[in-house]
Amino acid sequence: MTDAITTDPAEKMRLRAALIERIGGYMSAHSIGVAADLGIADLIKDGVRGSDELAAGTGTHEPSLRRLLRTLVAVGMMTEPEPGRFGLTDVGAQLRSDSPDSLRAFTRMFCHPALFAAWQGLGHSVATGERAFDLAHGRDFYAHLAVDDGLNALFNEAMGEESRIAAGQIAAGYDFSAAKKVVDLGGGDGTLLAAVLPAHPHLHGIVFDSLSGVAGAPAVLEKAGIADRCEARAGDFFQDIPEDGDLYIIKSVFQDWSDEDARALLRACRAQMPASATLLIVGSVLPETASTDQPIMFFTDLNMLVNSGGKERTESEFRAMLDDTGFTVESVRLGAAGPLSIIQAVPAAA
Ligand SMILES: C[S@@+](CC[C@H](N)C(=O)[O-])C[C@H]1O[C@@H](n2cnc3c(N)ncnc32)[C@H](O)[C@@H]1O
Repeated sequence: MTDAITTDPAEKMRLRAALIERIGGYMSAHSIGVAADLGIADLIKDGVRGSDELAAGTGTHEPSLRRLLRTLVAVGMMTEPEPGRFGLTDVGAQLRSDSPDSLRAFTRMFCHPALFAAWQGLGHSVATGERAFDLAHGRDFYAHLAVDDGLNALFNEAMGEESRIAAGQIAAGYDFSAAKKVVDLGGGDGTLLAAVLPAHPHLHGIVFDSLSGVAGAPAVLEKAGIADRCEARAGDFFQDIPEDGDLYIIKSVFQDWSDEDARALLRACRAQMPASATLLIVGSVLPETASTDQPIMFFTDLNMLVNSGGKERTESEFRAMLDDTGFTVESVRLGAAGPLSIIQAVPAAA
């Protein structure tokens, strides 16, 4: 047997707890997902509620619900200021559906049984490089969304929730003065342009996504008061990219695709966007080496291995891909859009 990691009993306990808490991550995710499904945060809002009231409000078994609530306290989602009475922490308040900072749909989507089922195949993905989602569901992720209206609506809303901070920062921080028409490729429910266009009245826009992806966009554009200058258009971005834009944004899309598909998408952009247009890739840029600084990036990367067959990329990988597909990188602004970065590129001279 090799040497013990430590002979200090207190350190042994600390290391043991650190591992067991990490293993408990799936229990934590299930607990938070059930709380989001039940709408517990909406029942608590600003106050503190008894587990009996919450059980009555959710139609659940009070002793079991109370155990769930205690676990949510243990993971920092809730408080228990007196026995059996529960409030929300600021982290937990993001499960309120009426909050502008809500991540309830995002939580429900990532804790959806269809995604948990896919993640059970992580070992298969690691062994083979294949998508576990397809193994669990018999079709790929976006094909599944196209036939599951409930999950599709949840996905589109979840992406909108996730986009809000980055969308606000792009609207406020990017210089749109030279642009006239912004095309958001894979723009989902239109959350990005719903933040950008109101802040820049001279702009027109197109939210471009698949039929199921763009389904929620008309309502979002209408609510933002920009339906008269922003179109929601359905299509396949590998085939028929709108040709009449001068600024093309692709936000949180490339991580969905393999290198081969990502290059095909960039080639489609290069072939169909005007030679004078600008391309903005907004997304995570992985550091060259992993660390504990931003675990979400690595979760997302693994999530792509499991669900979409895509991957997160480093700056050098993005640069190589853009170079290979006929683009010149003008700038890389790390962390310029919330946790996301902005890579600006233009078609290279022929
Ligand atoms: C991860 S979501 C990102 C959505 C949005 N850009 C955001 O940041 O919230 C990827 C988007 O790509 C869209 N998409 C996937 N395949 C597509 C295709 N072939 N043509 C157009 N859009 C597609 C999906 O419907 C989805 O809305």
